[in-house]
Amino acid sequence: MQSSIIHHPSSMNKGAFTATVVSNRRLHECFWSMDLAFTGAGARAFAGFRPGQFVQVDVSSLGLPAEHMIPPYLRDAAKRNILLRRPFSFADVTAGPDKTTAELLYCALGPASLRLTTLTGDDALSFLGPLGNGFGVPQGKKLALLVVGGMGAPPIRCLAKLLRAEHPDMEAIAFVGAKTADLLPFEGRFDEISEGIDLSLPAFARFGIPSAVTTDDGSAGRRGFITDRLAHWLDEQHDRSPPETIIYACGPEAMLAATARLAAQRNIDCQVSMERRMGCGIGVCQSCAVECRVEGSTETIYKLCCQDGPVFNARSVVFVEHG
Ligand SMILES: Cc1cc2nc3c(=O)[nH]c(=O)nc-3n(C[C@H](O)[C@H](O)[C@H](O)COP(=O)(O)OP(=O)(O)OC[C@H]3O[C@@H](n4cnc5c(N)ncnc54)[C@H](O)[C@@H]3O)c2cc1C
Ligand code: FES
Repeated sequence: MQSSIIHHPSSMNKGAFTATVVSNRRLHECFWSMDLAFTGAGARAFAGFRPGQFVQVDVSSLGLPAEHMIPPYLRDAAKRNILLRRPFSFADVTAGPDKTTAELLYCALGPASLRLTTLTGDDALSFLGPLGNGFGVPQGKKLALLVVGGMGAPPIRCLAKLLRAEHPDMEAIAFVGAKTADLLPFEGRFDEISEGIDLSLPAFARFGIPSAVTTDDGSAGRRGFITDRLAHWLDEQHDRSPPETIIYACGPEAMLAATARLAAQRNIDCQVSMERRMGCGIGVCQSCAVECRVEGSTETIYKLCCQDGPVFNARSVVFVEHG
């Protein structure tokens, strides 16, 4: 039986807030981690941020990094003016008495994200948020399977922390996949990642959550797709009860589709965080349509990723088939 418990926040606390950049450092390849601090009304609004929700970042006033810091294939595209805010999740949020801190984990792959790399300590950045619906934890769940594909890591990392804080008795295992070791958006030594399910991925180990890692080329963890690894693992679990299990996934659409399929075949609840190009992020421009099934009918309707999602119940989504 599918549970519909996605976290629907109150719209009362969202707005445009300025955060101060605490640090902004390159992890490896295109991956950067920016620590931010919100104070005042921003701190109160983002204290209620739930994993899977997102923000719209304004980079319109930021300049480009020095020419030698821009990959050659992006040099022309990078010069485009950035009028629209861009959507990002947070990988970590910590609410304190006077300020709320957040980590933006991002990949510099285009004009807006390249501009983010120029920020340093004490710079200011404007965020619209918290936006959309986050992951929910339905009652009675005892096992959470966290499925990550590449840059889908931020909301799932955020969820791992919440599960440990708010559901300490719930068992969790992360299944993390990427094309190659270079495309794993984490810090650490990838040659130390084992082929087993263990604590070798520090981003999840710090919450006591073991992880299985696959890469398409076998350069870290086991060779293959993470969804095949998950399917194999589920097939071995004869003592686990599907109604007590839930799968959370974020990553490329083909991975989400495969995850949704294997969850449906085994009657396991599954929530997926979808990505769409977003114009406004608040339900006005209609640019972020997600085709969804109407319950009890063969009809489909279009929902908005920014407002009805980005987290959806996997069974309701009609995935775009590629290739
Ligand atoms: C809800 C949500 C949460 C996100 N969270 C993060 C995050 O935590 N970290 C992160 O690095 N990125 C995240 N993204 C993706 C991020 O919004 C894009 O990478 C960013 O907008 C790229 O802007 P750009 O100007 O740098 O590059 P662009 O030139 O706009 O894009 C560069 C490339 O990325 C593709 N792309 C851009 N945006 C999207 C999108 N929304 N969906 C699919 N493909 C896209 C483009 O087709 C292009 O190939 C998120 C997207 C959404 C919708
Ligand atoms: S991004 Fe404008 S309606 Fe969703």
